[in-house]
Amino acid sequence: MNSNNIYIVFGVSGSGKTTIGKALAKELGIPFFDADDFHPESNIKKMSEGSPLNDDDREPWLKILSNQIIGWHKIEGAVLACSALKQKYRELLESIAPEFIKWIFLDGSYGLISSRLEARKDHFFKKELLISQFKTLEKPKKGISVTIDESIPEIIKKIQSSLSIQKSQLGLIGLGVMGKSLAKNILSKNFSLSVYNRQVKNKEVDVAKCFVSDQSSDHKVLGFDELEPFIISLEQPRSIIIMVNAGKPIDMVIEALLPLLSKGDCLIDGGNSHYKKTLERAQKLSKHGVYFIGAGISGGEEGALKGPSIMPGGAKEAYEQSGSFLEAIAARDKNNMPCCSYMGPQGAGHYIKMIHNGIEYAEMQLLAETYHLLRFYDDKTPKQISDIFESWRTKGIDSYLLEITADILLKKEGEEFLIDKILDKAGQKGTGGWSTIAALELGMPLSTISESVMARNLSGMKSKRIKASEIYQIKTCKSDGDDEHFLDTLEQGFTAASIINHAIGFELLVEASQEYEWNLNLSEIARIWTNGCIIRSELMEKISTLFLKDNQNSLLLFPEIVRLMKVNIEALTDIVSKGLKAGCSLPVLSASANYFLTYIAAQSSANMIQAQRDYFGAHTYQRVDKPLTEYFHTNWKS
Ligand code: 6PG
Repeated sequence: MNSNNIYIVFGVSGSGKTTIGKALAKELGIPFFDADDFHPESNIKKMSEGSPLNDDDREPWLKILSNQIIGWHKIEGAVLACSALKQKYRELLESIAPEFIKWIFLDGSYGLISSRLEARKDHFFKKELLISQFKTLEKPKKGISVTIDESIPEIIKKIQSSLSIQKSQLGLIGLGVMGKSLAKNILSKNFSLSVYNRQVKNKEVDVAKCFVSDQSSDHKVLGFDELEPFIISLEQPRSIIIMVNAGKPIDMVIEALLPLLSKGDCLIDGGNSHYKKTLERAQKLSKHGVYFIGAGISGGEEGALKGPSIMPGGAKEAYEQSGSFLEAIAARDKNNMPCCSYMGPQGAGHYIKMIHNGIEYAEMQLLAETYHLLRFYDDKTPKQISDIFESWRTKGIDSYLLEITADILLKKEGEEFLIDKILDKAGQKGTGGWSTIAALELGMPLSTISESVMARNLSGMKSKRIKASEIYQIKTCKSDGDDEHFLDTLEQGFTAASIINHAIGFELLVEASQEYEWNLNLSEIARIWTNGCIIRSELMEKISTLFLKDNQNSLLLFPEIVRLMKVNIEALTDIVSKGLKAGCSLPVLSASANYFLTYIAAQSSANMIQAQRDYFGAHTYQRVDKPLTEYFHTNWKS
């Protein structure tokens, strides 16, 4: 940073060299030195005897200083306060390393400085000395001059802008795949940026420096592998995006940052953190006057680079301070509005991202099941399935996940399709499971999402599955090919299941909003999910418009959705029964059909559950023929 420069603040005595020098040094995070502390013994003796120094006396002192300057430059630079009134003193000071020296002349009139000195109670003002200083002063021809009739912060600001000392508008910690892409996105929007990445021997070496050297010289970017200079390089109040792994790494970064931050700074966690942890972190930081925004960011590497969907939650003031950066780097919706807006208080942003991921898990599983049916029941090749999915994209059900699935199916390695070579064990980092737990905590159904998590878990039991398949020897039956409507039915069934999956996700958001008093705006959530994120789709566009009409309604109860479901539900149940009968497991397609049939059933099977509970545990039940405030118990054996 700042090329280890030596900033020499000079001027007559009383011009404020020490005060301004110290303030500048603090601002730049480099040490401050006073030239008077470097006089040789002989000068100190002379001065203590009250004799003034002549130019011969000054020469060895200035030489000492010019040597010091080289030493300070080698370490981190410095600010030096020195009267340096004559041109020849200044030439001596910069005789060894002129290229690193930045001259800052504090310019004030005799009247201003003498009145200031006179006002100082702790200081005996020698008028003659000041007059002689003004006589000696040779105004500089190089460097910058700042007038001293302003406040210290104003003077510092002027010095910084005159010397083009770069301060960054934004900071970013963690240059992993997502962090790097986001940093490039930030730079492409012409923000000045400081990036920090830790040093880990043989693993993460000079990551920040390499990132900086890879960027075009038009971009204002500074790289650091130490936190302190990184923090100092940022404009205040600071906005810092943290892109490190969720969990412990976030806490470690916060811990290390805390002593370096100032009141009003704002940390933005852009990872997939658990919303409860976000709440805890925000509370801890607020005790120190530091804001915390938990911002879900969706869109993967490409989204981070070109514009992700961003779901920030936290204090409103924090969003007012840092939200404009997030909005600038986010994707745009069809009306060119940013796919980022204030979601709600602490925890809300990461909760919404968690539900986004839950919906994502189930949509992925729906596509996987649909592919599986086409491949193993309907005997299609990956290329044929890709063509089918491509054709669906033109039928009002296009989505990013449908698009990439069609693409995946075309990928070949030599003569063979890559999809056939990929091991059928699904990984996961936890957000789907967290959504399931969050639903359980609120007593809410989450059928498609929880089933998609279980499907991943079950897929992981590969060796057991192989053993069981050998024992049972039940093979998937092939379609006899006489169902000419199979593809249409599958498309309709998929459409219905996808609507149900989204309805389930939004239903949980409504409940969470009430429970945690978040006042979530469902239409706005759907709108910021229309671009940039993994679950962007034509359906999401529709959902966003529907919730504009009624933010509290259930998705499945909007007349437009009712019409769609009425057209497609039979196809869903048809596909599920055909598929199961043929020996294909269809966990999320079945879960969506089951959810829907229960959701629209005025009479469910739960009367039997209540009777059973009362039978063995006297848990009591309500009756349809009595007020619901009354509870009954029956002695079932008598
Ligand atoms: C996104 C993704 C992203 C990540 C998932 C993957 O919105 O950009 O959801 O956050 O790819 O967390 O999660 P799993 O590894 O659990 O599938």
